[in-house]
Amino acid sequence: MALEKPINLKRGAPELSTIDADLVLGNKPGLTNVNELVEENPFLLGYQGSDQSRPGINPKLKGKNFLGLDSFRETLAELHNVKPEQIVVAGGGMDAMSLVFDAINRQLGEGREFRLGKMAVEQPTYDRILENAKNRRFATRGVRLDTKTGLDLTELEELLKRTQIDLFYGIDPGQNPSSYSYAPEERQEIEQKMAEYGGLVLWDRAYENLRYGESEQNGTPHYFQGPIPDNVIIARNYTKELAAGSAKLGYLILPDDPGILKLFDTVVSNARLNATSYLVSALVNQIIDPKNEEQFHYYSQHLKKLRERFQPRLKKFLEEMQSQFPEARVNQNCDSGYFMQTFYPDIPATPTAQRIFLKEHAEQGLVYEDARTAYTDFYREGGAGIGETRDPFVLMSEEKIPEIVAAKRAAWEKTQEIISQKKIPAPKTGNPKPKF
Ligand SMILES: Cc1ncc(COP(=O)(O)O)c(C=O)c1O
Repeated sequence: MALEKPINLKRGAPELSTIDADLVLGNKPGLTNVNELVEENPFLLGYQGSDQSRPGINPKLKGKNFLGLDSFRETLAELHNVKPEQIVVAGGGMDAMSLVFDAINRQLGEGREFRLGKMAVEQPTYDRILENAKNRRFATRGVRLDTKTGLDLTELEELLKRTQIDLFYGIDPGQNPSSYSYAPEERQEIEQKMAEYGGLVLWDRAYENLRYGESEQNGTPHYFQGPIPDNVIIARNYTKELAAGSAKLGYLILPDDPGILKLFDTVVSNARLNATSYLVSALVNQIIDPKNEEQFHYYSQHLKKLRERFQPRLKKFLEEMQSQFPEARVNQNCDSGYFMQTFYPDIPATPTAQRIFLKEHAEQGLVYEDARTAYTDFYREGGAGIGETRDPFVLMSEEKIPEIVAAKRAAWEKTQEIISQKKIPAPKTGNPKPKF
């Protein structure tokens, strides 16, 4: 039966009810609220904090720090066990990661290679990174990621042999959309492979603090620990865990390599206006430092609340899929993130079938993004994304999940019915040949 009220599952925007505005704005006992913060530190409202004295890299910019609020960078550096110089703050995770594309393109330009960057991504991957890369004229190539067997390292190696790949982009933990999490050794193997071929790795740890295993049912935040290998960049954000769109805040941890630090300094300070907000940085800074016990308590309690809210949704979704829709495939090992992928059987890999598939879901009240957006052109041409949905389980209340899964099943059955009436020809089998 169709849902009474359609549910928009296109994106993973945090639910309004998970936003703790008082936490972010400092309106709790022991926190400095936003008005007091600004009164005490008027530079927080200034353009890139122009009164901040800066122990920075580029002496031309003395008194300004485009790389972020120093006190925030210092806290983060301590938490990650790296140097403050390695931290670059930006307006959200995506903004931070786009700096990596800019930096690589700039370096390639300076090296007179006269080419733009090339990136390898997991297949599937976060759709917006593909969009962002395209806007920066970065080429992307895919490598299959399977939730049972991990990243296809043979495919990665073949790709590296065939073409110069400047960057591997991976998401861990709670990969978007597959929900896969890597073991540390798997990440290391990828890092070493990329190093062997002279490429960087960008790990997007957007869901670092949204893990739902048993040992995670407290509010302890995770901080990826340095040292960071020479060819590795980590991206983090607070957007998802503080669940406040207005507190869009992210950062990069760069390797401790003077060349790379200088390159990012140039990219951030000379080539673009960095969208970081000093005010948001200062607000977040006061709650993340475990040394300030009282303030930190609010943050860890908040994380605990989020995990306690999302974990039963994940569990319920997996249970309902198993009982109501066992023909479909989901990652029963999922233990983190926002998203899960559902693979539906017997949907022919043709655009017409996909149109029907999405329309039938909408008819049932399930409004999904077209899952093909998570794939590179090459994979998409081979039919990837057809008959798949990306399910933001965190947005599904436990009471609604049985209905949602029933609606998924109904949409699948309806799609098959229509397809068999229409006699859609079977797709040509096999992937097209690589074009590079
Ligand atoms: C894997 C991943 N990285 C980055 C982001 C973007 O983060 P931000 O909103 O901080 O730019 C998202 C948001 O959905 C995401 O899923």
